[in-house]
Parts: sequence; C-alpha cells; structure tokens
Amino acid sequence: MKKKVTVFAPATVANLGCGFDSMGLAIASPGDELTLITNTIKEIRIRSITGDNKKLSLDPEKNTAGVAIKAMLNALEIKIGFDIYLKKKMPLGSGLGSSAASAVAGAFAVNELLGKPFSKKELIPFAMAGEKIASGAAHADNAAPCMLGGIVLVRSYNPFEVVSLPSPSKLFIVVVHPDVEVLTKNSRAVLPKKIPMKDAIAQWSNTAALVSGLYAADYGLIGRAVSDHVAEPYRAKLIPCFMEVKASAMRHGALGCSISGSGPSVFAFCEGKKSAETVSKVMQAEFRKKMIRNTAYISTVNQKGVMIVQ
Ligand code: HSE
Repeated sequence: MKKKVTVFAPATVANLGCGFDSMGLAIASPGDELTLITNTIKEIRIRSITGDNKKLSLDPEKNTAGVAIKAMLNALEIKIGFDIYLKKKMPLGSGLGSSAASAVAGAFAVNELLGKPFSKKELIPFAMAGEKIASGAAHADNAAPCMLGGIVLVRSYNPFEVVSLPSPSKLFIVVVHPDVEVLTKNSRAVLPKKIPMKDAIAQWSNTAALVSGLYAADYGLIGRAVSDHVAEPYRAKLIPCFMEVKASAMRHGALGCSISGSGPSVFAFCEGKKSAETVSKVMQAEFRKKMIRNTAYISTVNQKGVMIVQ
C-alpha cells in the first residue's frame, strides 16, 4: 500500500448567479495542496497548515479536511491513522471554495492511499461533511466541481445526485477577490428563509436557461442567465462596491457577472481570453478606486478537478 500522496484541489465558483446551492465550476488556480502520510498511531493528526495566517485550527475535528477524512474512515469502519500537511494556497472566506478544497483534497488523498474504495462521485458526500462544519450547511456546489472538475449541477441532495454539464470552449471565467473576508456562515445568515414566488420563477427559469446555454454553446444566453434573485440582492451589501464592479464588467463586454459563491469574490463570464483580460482589468480598477486591494484570476473551466501531484 502507498504510504504518502500529495494532491491539488482547485478553487471553485459556486452558484454561477442563478444556481444557488446547486451549480458550480472549477477553475485552474488557485487551489490547496495537501500531503497525506500514513502513521502508525492510528490517529488523524494535522501536522502543519501554511498560508492561512494561523487562522485554521490544527484540531482535525474543526478542520474540513480532518472531518472529511474521519467521515470516510467511519463509513469504511477501519481504524487507520494519517498525518496531514496542508498548504492553503487560496484566501480563506473568499468565495472561492477554500473549505471545500481542503475537504475534497483530504477525502481524495485517503481514497488514493486506500486503493480507491470509492469513485470520485462517491467521495463528494464525505467532503460535504467537512463543508458542514465550515459553513453550517452541507452544500455541494463547491465540493462537487472541485472533486469532478467541469461545471456541475447538484440535482438533488437526498438522494444525492450530481450531473456534469458541458463547458463551451471559449467560456472564460474572471474571478476578482477583494481583500476583505466574508465568512460563508455570515453571508448565509443574511438570506431570507422564504422568497416570493416571482423570484423563485425567475431563478429556475434562469437556471434552466444556463444549462441550455451551456449545451448549445450560446454565449449570449449563458450571460443573460447569470441573474440571481435569491442571494445577490441580499449579499451585495457585504461586498464593497459590488454594484460598481458588476456595472463596469458588463459595460466592458462581460457576458454576465455576479457573486462567486458566498463572496466577497466577484466572477464574470466572458467569451474568449481577450475579453476576459479586459473585463478583469476594469473590475480590478473599480475595486482599486475604493482603495481595496484585490487579486484577479482568469481561467477556462478546469476539467480535471482534484488531482495527484506526487
Ligand atoms: N452555495 C453556497 C452559498 C456557496 O452561496 O452559500 C458557498 O461558497
């Protein structure tokens, strides 16, 4: 049996505007790197975490990777120990699926060392157990694309079913992360418990339109479908100058623009690399006008998802 593995789990953009808690995609970078080594003491230990500004707990019960690994070992009913070395290479509380990336990396790495008892799809619920301790909800719209790559629809949570969707080749994603922290727990707390019927209708119409646009590679339809009546209206105020950033992206050719996951990152869909570079620049400039430091990522859809590095 292999005793050591290092894996890379990519950042993800969840919701995609219209698909709250039900759609997400993986981008090329940033991402988390996790090394797992079998130990002889039959315990899960987190030996080191870097890149987190000391914000994450080394207690495996409080860390999404630790929780995902424990959930998996419980399901397999085996007692085996692992040492975890985690390199956070993306900002926490960013809307880039940081907690999901660690959970996915943990579950995927254990699966490798145990000789792949589970398929990638079967591993997603273990990663969701990790998500639950980070955000209070076991949503899969970050964990599923992080695990599988591509654009993923979570059709149902119970029973659990995910559907991989096509990624048109000229679809570029711009994600700009302003240097402010918004924890998913907090941005979920601002959402209403109930929404008016007219908003629900708009939301499922757009979600269906997005799926149709992806299949037809209809970039205009993809863009028009990025319209969120469920989360963005309530969360926009948590992100400094969100409306200005979105307006500028749209003025400069973005197909659509909304909040990445629970924010504060903002994403835009663009057709082609040139358009993505223009949109990225104007979004960054808008944040800079308000003296908000920010980082931009430009990517096509990452089709691989979590993968072995070594
Ligand atoms: N769907 C989740 C939310 C994603 O919007 O709260 C969190 O990254």
